[in-house]
Amino acid sequence: MFSRDFAWGAGSAAYQIEGGWQSDGKGPSIWDTFCHEKGKVFQEHNGDVACNSYELWDKDLECIQQLGLTHYRLSLSWARLLPDGTTRHVNQKGVQYYNKVIDDLLACNVSPMVTLYHFDLPQALQDQGGWKSAGIATLFDSYAKFCFETFGDRVKLWLTVNEPRVCAKMGHEDGIHAPGLKELGTTAYLVGHNMLRAHAMAWHTYNSFYRPKQKGAVSLAINSDWLEPLNPGCKEDIAATERDLAFTLQWFAWPVFVTGDYPEVMRSAIDTQSEKMGYSGSSRLPRFSKDEPAILGTADFFALNYYTSRKVKAGGDCGQMCMRSDQNAEEVLDPSWPISGVFWLAVVPTGLRKLLKYIKDTFNNPPVYITESGFSQVGPLQIKDVQRCEFYRDTILEMAKAIEEDGVNVRGYFAWSLLDNFEWTDGYSVRFGLFHVDFSDAMRSRTIYMSGEEYAKIIIKHKSAI
Ligand code: NOJ
Repeated sequence: MFSRDFAWGAGSAAYQIEGGWQSDGKGPSIWDTFCHEKGKVFQEHNGDVACNSYELWDKDLECIQQLGLTHYRLSLSWARLLPDGTTRHVNQKGVQYYNKVIDDLLACNVSPMVTLYHFDLPQALQDQGGWKSAGIATLFDSYAKFCFETFGDRVKLWLTVNEPRVCAKMGHEDGIHAPGLKELGTTAYLVGHNMLRAHAMAWHTYNSFYRPKQKGAVSLAINSDWLEPLNPGCKEDIAATERDLAFTLQWFAWPVFVTGDYPEVMRSAIDTQSEKMGYSGSSRLPRFSKDEPAILGTADFFALNYYTSRKVKAGGDCGQMCMRSDQNAEEVLDPSWPISGVFWLAVVPTGLRKLLKYIKDTFNNPPVYITESGFSQVGPLQIKDVQRCEFYRDTILEMAKAIEEDGVNVRGYFAWSLLDNFEWTDGYSVRFGLFHVDFSDAMRSRTIYMSGEEYAKIIIKHKSAI
């Protein structure tokens, strides 16, 4: 059922696990700054130490081996490699750290999938305007080039940016992620735009200068829920669902896979709202310049982070010039869907199959990696996490159906996450790991959850069926 080279993986991100926030010459990132400000994160938690993977990488490697993974997804901390964000100064200790991680993985027959940017911009670049400034794209491209040059002889799967939508909206409009900006109107679109420009430049750099020798593949990780109309017979709900999809999955996927520009539904929804609010400037959604590297075609595979599903109905305009009003769509839960630990995570494995089919049909049947899929635990610790075992069984079954019955070209599955870790604004209160991490213990001891054992069994079963 699964091909011989199917990737069975788990993922992590630098800020969520590494700690060592000031170790060996690392520069500060926007998440260091954000967490050190009072009242930003659950109970003032921060990633100063996190799982201490910076010092305890050997323990992570043991976990990876225990699961029998063929792939491991990690992110590089830009500020650990380039403390001020630029290639003027390279932190060799950071290079050594990632070299060891990559070499150790390969020595154990595990292929790395490396994300260049997972939410943690060097603070020095934020001080110059961060993702709002046009110049960030060139700086990102230089950083990407440095990483391809340094690690690309061994890394064959690259992700440029992770979840640009989350970074743009939650970081720059809602203010609940770093850098904590609450700017309504244009900022989130501008940030998303610069992330796409940055991604495309890095893809072209790889394509022209590194691919011929290194022969790897580059994409960006796009997060999206599966969305369907609350009332399938209602025209307004159908239109609202289309709008919602345009602002989520398609915001980044449409330019990269379909036209080189944003979906028309998105632009017209934004322009309609602008008009309604009496805004007389040019479109709040920027336009791509013909003088810059093209956006269309800048992904070698589709990288999907899927967690949950929503029903959509018309409405949602909150009378402000913000994305919520532009979208003008309200998302609701189906009462039959069980909720995992966090409020936003309804468990809907069937939504994954539908979304995969949608991706196949809309984006011309690309190879797909599910780069994140997971289930959170909140409250009292349960090592025997029966519900999460069921979640992985059901989700992987739906993925198998998408491959076998719908012909979707799925090439890999990455569980989120290898370890319990720093879950952004929720700190350590939300646990996504296949291994539990004891954050009260200086050694950050790791204990496998029942779901970790379950995932290991699933991997063995499918590998031996080949
Ligand atoms: C997506 C993000 O990429 C990851 O960092 C986060 O921990 C998970 N979602 C769960 O919220």
